[in-house]
Amino acid sequence: MKLLTTPAEALEWSRRQHREGRTIGLVPTMGALHHGHLALVDDAAERTDSVCVSIFVNPLQFNEGADFDSYPRPIDEDLAACEKAGVDAVYAPTGRAMYSSAFETRVVPGTLAEQMEGAMRPGHFEGVTTVVTKLFTALRPDVAVFGQKDFQQLVIVRRLVADLDLGVEIIGHPIERDPDGLAMSSRNLRLTPEQRAAAVCVPRSLDAATAAARAGGTPDQVVQAAVDVVAAEPLARHEYTTVFDPRTLREVDQVTDGLRVATAVWFGDIRLIDNRDLT
Ligand code: PAF
Repeated sequence: MKLLTTPAEALEWSRRQHREGRTIGLVPTMGALHHGHLALVDDAAERTDSVCVSIFVNPLQFNEGADFDSYPRPIDEDLAACEKAGVDAVYAPTGRAMYSSAFETRVVPGTLAEQMEGAMRPGHFEGVTTVVTKLFTALRPDVAVFGQKDFQQLVIVRRLVADLDLGVEIIGHPIERDPDGLAMSSRNLRLTPEQRAAAVCVPRSLDAATAAARAGGTPDQVVQAAVDVVAAEPLARHEYTTVFDPRTLREVDQVTDGLRVATAVWFGDIRLIDNRDLT
């Protein structure tokens, strides 16, 4: 497994793969790899010849310094997991290699970044689109695999690729869940055992929302069903739940086929997100 630490090394590796006739699958991550990430790696491996995992905790997409500082960075375990999973290359640049002291260019997303996570975390998606553009530029992947847990991110990245003609096929991999239904996330590692037990209210709230939608509820009733489940859990603090159109990401005023529901819930200083198809 090759370890790449600068954009120049990444580009050289990428050029070599293409020169030798191999397609590249990229799994962009911020590390603290779990089974969910490894499922993305398997997905990429089925579609392409050479798989690269990028590991970079991107400061541009964090709103709070404390969240950035406390983000888990178990790089040795991550490299071992990649090696075991048969990954061909890991791109793990330093902050300075990604953002020089003169760095000032940003890729600015449009209206898709205005609601849900974008409304709660100003500037977050600008950080994501900027770093994803840099990763794509350095690694020139044919395919990139993103998890559907960050559903808004997936939609924005698809728009980014289409708008800037980046020529990367974007795959949205279904959410990987623990046996009790909690969506796998690197942030789960920071939950105390009590918070981890309480966090099952997040997928359950989406189950309640789905049941309310199937029973013919209005969007407000669907949201309320989810809110009630979270409100019954003392360790949880509800932030938002929304019923939205997956193409526009806009809130809807009527429940129809093909909609999704998304939520964000806090446990102490840890914020978990989840979403699912309402039908
Ligand atoms: O989903 C993530 O882990 C990050 O937002 C990404 C896509 C790696 C960009 O930093």
